[in-house]
Amino acid sequence: MNLIIMGPPGAGKGTAAERIKAAYGLAHISTGDLLRAAVKAGTELGLKASVYMDAGKLVPDEVVIGLVEGRLGEPDTSNGFMLDGFPRTIPQAEALSEMLDRIGRRLDIVINLRIDDDVIIRRIAGRLICPSCGAIYNADLNRPADGLCKCGGRPARRKDDEPEAVKMRLVAYKAQSEPLIDWYRQRGLLAEVESAGTPAEVFDKISGVISKHSGAGKW
Ligand code: AP5
Repeated sequence: MNLIIMGPPGAGKGTAAERIKAAYGLAHISTGDLLRAAVKAGTELGLKASVYMDAGKLVPDEVVIGLVEGRLGEPDTSNGFMLDGFPRTIPQAEALSEMLDRIGRRLDIVINLRIDDDVIIRRIAGRLICPSCGAIYNADLNRPADGLCKCGGRPARRKDDEPEAVKMRLVAYKAQSEPLIDWYRQRGLLAEVESAGTPAEVFDKISGVISKHSGAGKW
């Protein structure tokens, strides 16, 4: 199975992706995580990307397209992959389509997480991320015990989770990413899932749409 999980910032893509990966054994390709790793490593790409990310703007298409193309060539994707945070613009979706044609793969389903802006703001305000392993926490939902991650890291706020950057990310989402919902609907790939409820409830809804699309529920 090859899928995309999309939705606005803070919709719960990363949280759902952890459960989907565990249940279906898919390679999880998060462009946000790839970019944050490049920033942490201090690579040239990371230095350039951080300027856009910290301001809540999208990183230029050619940069993320190159990253995804490289990642899709890695062996762990052969049993299926899950793209999280990519594509985010129509040119990225077109590039993905060409990329998949070239390597003889296809998308099975595009899951769009729907959520109201006030819930987004609340979720992002409470988010903490482990800088060592990337585990996602929330001050309201699953606060790290004694301030420490299970891996021993100390979860902290993401730089782009500051209120001004969140505002910009929502503007960028509506202008550049929301049009992808219709793009994938027109191609018969879209499944919409309400991201209200606990992470377990959201995952159950996602499993339901995956089973429906796959018929037998197995890939
Ligand atoms: P990226 O890392 O992809 O950020 P995003 O899309 O803004 O999404 P988030 O990571 O903020 O949220 P999420 O939906 O994963 O929610 P989460 O599960 O953490 O991208 C960051 C930046 O990188 C972009 O702004 C851009 O600059 C750049 N970038 C990345 N991809 C790009 C691309 N393709 N093109 C150009 N630029 C790109 O959950 C949020 C919080 O809510 C957590 O605290 C979680 O614990 C909590 N939560 C989750 N689910 C629930 C639930 N069901 N109930 C209660 N709380 C919940």
